[in-house]
Amino acid sequence: MNILLIGSGGREHAFAEQLTKSAHCSTLYIMPGNAGTAQLGKNISINPNDFPAVAEFCISYDIKLLVVGPEEPLVRGIRDYFEADEKLAQIAFVGPGQAGAIMEGSKDWSKAFMLKYGVPTAAYQTFTAETITDGIEYVKKHSLPVVLKADGLAAGKGVLICQTHEEAVDELSAMIADKKFGDASKKVVIEEFMFGIECSVFVLMDGVNYVILPVAKDYKRIGEGETGLNTGGMGAISPVPFADDVFMQKVKERIVEPTVFGLNQEGISYKGFVFVGLMAVNNEPFVIEYNCRMGDPETEAVLPRIQNDFVELMMATSNGNLNEVELQIDPRAAATIMLVSKGYPEDYEKGFVMSNFEEASGSKLYHAGTKISDNNQILSNGGRVLAITSLADTIQEAVKISRENAEKIEFENKYFRRDIGFEFM
Ligand code: AMP
Ligand code: GLY
Repeated sequence: MNILLIGSGGREHAFAEQLTKSAHCSTLYIMPGNAGTAQLGKNISINPNDFPAVAEFCISYDIKLLVVGPEEPLVRGIRDYFEADEKLAQIAFVGPGQAGAIMEGSKDWSKAFMLKYGVPTAAYQTFTAETITDGIEYVKKHSLPVVLKADGLAAGKGVLICQTHEEAVDELSAMIADKKFGDASKKVVIEEFMFGIECSVFVLMDGVNYVILPVAKDYKRIGEGETGLNTGGMGAISPVPFADDVFMQKVKERIVEPTVFGLNQEGISYKGFVFVGLMAVNNEPFVIEYNCRMGDPETEAVLPRIQNDFVELMMATSNGNLNEVELQIDPRAAATIMLVSKGYPEDYEKGFVMSNFEEASGSKLYHAGTKISDNNQILSNGGRVLAITSLADTIQEAVKISRENAEKIEFENKYFRRDIGFEFM
């Protein structure tokens, strides 16, 4: 069958690898894709938020399965657009509709959902322009640090951790009154800071049934030792040593099952990935946030460990047959190191020629921000440029292989963290 994959990051390159490994895949199209996905299928330069154009493409190219990587088209309602048309509704589709994508699209909605269904999370209150005076009073008395979250999508920048009451008051005003994050911060969630260690749990749902994918941990800060600015993610490991069977059982009982139950109660038939960002506080799991997609770079560490036929897994998600699927997981550990452009997550240059790919043996190379030049060279084309994943018997060994290969790949202004997995070395 012909398959369309939406997205252009390292996550999508990892998806593309899995989809094209399946005998069920005839041609894979990636919209818009990158230099890595171009090696596995055909990149299509259509904007995924232009739903009529995506729909026309799917009809013309006889697409039978559509998998959506990033959140934006989902939050904007791409699934609903497809479901509303008799012909488009025939296409197997992985990714929730707007009603489910709100789990990521509105932090206020997801906090209220967690409260309603008893999912452990930090205590919170939500404020708007109408209640900003109360909000300021509330934040002045709040324990420190205090977490301020823009309700809507803010390109990963909408969470502020304030260390003083003055800072929190200023930021709250900036978010609500000055629209610091545009409409996304018309509502602000103020919540308690949780002290603990984070991990990412991914649940694949078919509307009724679910499977829990391998757990991962990503390293969000730009600097070694988790210092400096927040990024999209500088590396990941899977599995996570502290997320053992006992911990994962708690996650299943206290978080995944009430979440699945709650979605059903709300009448939301969720078909796609739920990314549960967790904080382990004294070994007890609390939800930081939900996302309606897979994580990046967690996907680059999680997907290579999944041994099932991936097209069959996606079809089971779309058809509601996940109860018939038994996940087969590679017991080896995966470690991903992200090569980025110096300056990221702030200003950086791009367009540098990349080389030495063939010398990085023993690792999977997932392109994140790359493109092919007119004379067929691979150029850096983003802040996050290339994810290097290695599988080995231990995390330590997997990190070592990825690090060696991270040294070998060359492009001007390359930077990467040498300490991915440091807590477990
Ligand atoms: P997000 O942009 O939603 O991924 O959040 C960014 C990061 O902020 C999370 O990965 C956590 O490290 C941190 N964070 C968010 N909420 C809390 C909280 N309540 N307590 C501690 N850290 C938090
Ligand atoms: N790595 C975190 C995310 O994808 O949001």
